[in-house]
Amino acid sequence: MSELISPDRRHSDSLKWKLFAKPDTDILPMWVADMDFASPPEVIAAIKERADHGVFGYTQAPDSTVTAVIEYLKNTHGQTVDAKEIVWTPGLVPALSTAVRAVSSPEGNAIIMPPVYTPFFNAPADGGLEKIEAPLHKDPETGRYSIDIESLEQAVTPATKLVILCNPHNPVGRAFTKEELTAVANFCAQRDIVLCSDEIHCDLILDDVRHNTAISMEGTGGLRTITLMAPSKTYNIAGLGFSFAVIPDAKLRTAFRKAMGGFVPPLSALSYSAAEAAYRHGEAWRQNILTELRRNRDLITTELASIPDMRVAHIEATYLAWIDCTALNIGNASHAQQFFYERAGIAFSKGSDYGDNNYIRMNFGCPTATMVEAFKRIRKAVEA
Ligand SMILES: Cc1ncc(COP(=O)(O)O)c(C=O)c1O
Repeated sequence: MSELISPDRRHSDSLKWKLFAKPDTDILPMWVADMDFASPPEVIAAIKERADHGVFGYTQAPDSTVTAVIEYLKNTHGQTVDAKEIVWTPGLVPALSTAVRAVSSPEGNAIIMPPVYTPFFNAPADGGLEKIEAPLHKDPETGRYSIDIESLEQAVTPATKLVILCNPHNPVGRAFTKEELTAVANFCAQRDIVLCSDEIHCDLILDDVRHNTAISMEGTGGLRTITLMAPSKTYNIAGLGFSFAVIPDAKLRTAFRKAMGGFVPPLSALSYSAAEAAYRHGEAWRQNILTELRRNRDLITTELASIPDMRVAHIEATYLAWIDCTALNIGNASHAQQFFYERAGIAFSKGSDYGDNNYIRMNFGCPTATMVEAFKRIRKAVEA
């Protein structure tokens, strides 16, 4: 029941497949973060069962979904969370802006650590804070990124209200270590800065390491955290709009709920059913996805080892590869994105959207056969 199925998405109004489609050209879309796999059969069955009821009015979180999320947090991430600490959100992007609004004050600022997922750049202004960038550190030899406390120390001001972390990290593919997380947590706690951690990719760790959740740091040295999670990337249900925030501090939680008012819509009945089924019954399917993604990750490493002008650091998590194209010498990454689109028929994401012109981002959430075809095209375009 848990094998992977990869339906043809060309005529399904998929954003990923439609935006860069060209008539009479077979473009491979490897950009926006969803996967070319059908969700677990149990998720599809749960949606159908709920749909059969026929009424789709405003819905409260079903008790069974609340329990499923609490059990998931305990069993998968070792965290004991009370139902009252959870706030349901119809997506992580609105939750990021809500987190900013919740701590916003005139003249305040929020720190992000680029390169990073595009909406991080916009969230501070959306919520009324100035954006300050404290870039990740990049190892010049390996291209591996890490959290740079010195960069945070240089960026912080007395008006800093929030640090927004992405862990596991889109696009650099890191699953931050306990030491890195502890260092950020201490940095925030010492200055009474709220730590908001986007952990949407936390169940897509490809290496044999554990996810270190910010929930575990709550209260350390007085730290207040907002941890954002969802089953959406893991089980490929991003379009259904289900996510949640864990906010143990009651005052901060109240501020977050208040900040949602008037612009964050409620979650749909179908999204609760899908999320519950994913957490309760999706594990065998998730293991299959991880096997496929590891195979794709390893293929990227092997292929790029013999394309010296394209470099990738080891990918620990996510289905996104952050590929350095500097040595291709075709101008900045907008050109690289365009180059591969025009010469290879592949639509990647532009590195400039994440804060680095020299990169492209490749979505490898697809069957390995698609990856093999992609690398045939990449090689041909680069060699030409
Ligand atoms: C780090 C990160 N956060 C948030 C999102 C989007 O979340 P949502 O679709 O729930 O708004 C993505 C999607 O790629 C992501 O990679």
